[in-house]
Amino acid sequence: MAQEEVIIARETANLSGMVRVSGAKNSALKLIAAAILGQGKSTLRNIPAISDIDIMCEVLERLGATVERGEHELIIDTAPVESFETPYELVTKMRASISVLGPLVGRFGQARVAMPGGCQIGARNIDMHLVGMQELGVEFSVDHGNLVATTPNGLHAGTILLDFPSVGATETTMMAACVAQGTTTIDNAAREPEIEDLANMLNAMGAHIEGAGSSTIVIEGVPLDQMHPCDHVTVGDRIEAGTFLGGGVLLGGPLTVEGIDPSYLRMALTKLSAMGADVQVGDDFVTVSRTLPLQATDIQTLPHPGFPTDLQAQFMLLAALANGSSIVTENVFENRFMFAAEICRMGADVLIDEHHAVVTGVDRLQGAPVESTDLRAGAALVLAGLAAEGETIVRHIQHIDRGYEDYVGKLVSLGACVERATIDFAAL
Ligand code: EPZ
Repeated sequence: MAQEEVIIARETANLSGMVRVSGAKNSALKLIAAAILGQGKSTLRNIPAISDIDIMCEVLERLGATVERGEHELIIDTAPVESFETPYELVTKMRASISVLGPLVGRFGQARVAMPGGCQIGARNIDMHLVGMQELGVEFSVDHGNLVATTPNGLHAGTILLDFPSVGATETTMMAACVAQGTTTIDNAAREPEIEDLANMLNAMGAHIEGAGSSTIVIEGVPLDQMHPCDHVTVGDRIEAGTFLGGGVLLGGPLTVEGIDPSYLRMALTKLSAMGADVQVGDDFVTVSRTLPLQATDIQTLPHPGFPTDLQAQFMLLAALANGSSIVTENVFENRFMFAAEICRMGADVLIDEHHAVVTGVDRLQGAPVESTDLRAGAALVLAGLAAEGETIVRHIQHIDRGYEDYVGKLVSLGACVERATIDFAAL
């Protein structure tokens, strides 16, 4: 019997009400790594209860840290950390563990981290992380699948120009540069809100970082012993917020997401309006509703403040039910259209040509068994099942659990006909 846990989504007339988003996964994972530089007990709040956080906490514990877990808080004592080697099986399980590379080199002058694998959406190279760190005096070698970092002449400031505004490369070099002697500049830096969140935490720990959130970040290195623990609240998850807002526009709303800074979602909200949604924003909430038919709208994913690649699948779903044809261009990852193949099983009309997808709206989608290929596609497939006639079974939901806290529970609170179930898939 091939028993597996799935999400079953059934046709839902509307999604409406209010949902509070969790803390940002793509910030919290790096904040946990940055705590290594605090050399004491840091408190991190508004941490999402998702499986990626569990893995990152395990990485820290294997390095020697102690982690006390509240429902959405972590108290991480990194004073006991004395290892700079991460467990191979954990890093290969979650590539985001590479985030410990910068802090470990900052604290110990060396590190041994498993080479992170690729994933379904792309090769996920780390060449820009390495080039940035080499500018700071780090030397790398590869030893049986592990990346070995050393600083034979010490960690020093550098001038870094990133080929591409890579989120991870910006974070890695920023964390190491905090304690590198001298003034480091990172040009063509990523501008995602999570970068600012990380810089705010590092500054609360004693670092001197300016310009985070812009393309040029300047870091005045401080001695390691001047870095200290902190108490930091993670920003809200803009991608989780955008996912629920997409659901509200898909089915009508009014739907409000709370706990998010609307300025993080400017481009996505602009596109929702272009598709026919009514969008209201407040200090920490966004409300969407739609009475007009969905209108085709082109999107192209770009580094922030451009359209976020992590909302591409959610918007392709809206386009699949819009009047007319939309062109969706994926510029950030080389293989992030697998969602299209899944909604085509449900009757969508999507033609892929390299990194362009031509999405021609249809009147209805039909429920079908579909597979999550990455966490954002998985979340979008559940929304597709709510809009489709009949029943949709979403498989491989472990992807969704990596990045969405209580996704089904939050959708049910908004009126969705959706449930988790364990089924024998072979019997379908
Ligand atoms: C972060 O990944 C996020 N993950 C991703 O979210 C997000 O899609 C991405 O930023 C872009 O916003 C986390 O924060 C854990 P990049 P990251 O470095 O840091 C290539 C999700 O769904 N590249 O900006 O890996 C890379 O392969 C995930 O939550 C290199 O070639 O993103 C990609 O094609 C998915 N060499 C592009 O650049 C490098 O050294 C952007 O990568 C680094 C990146």
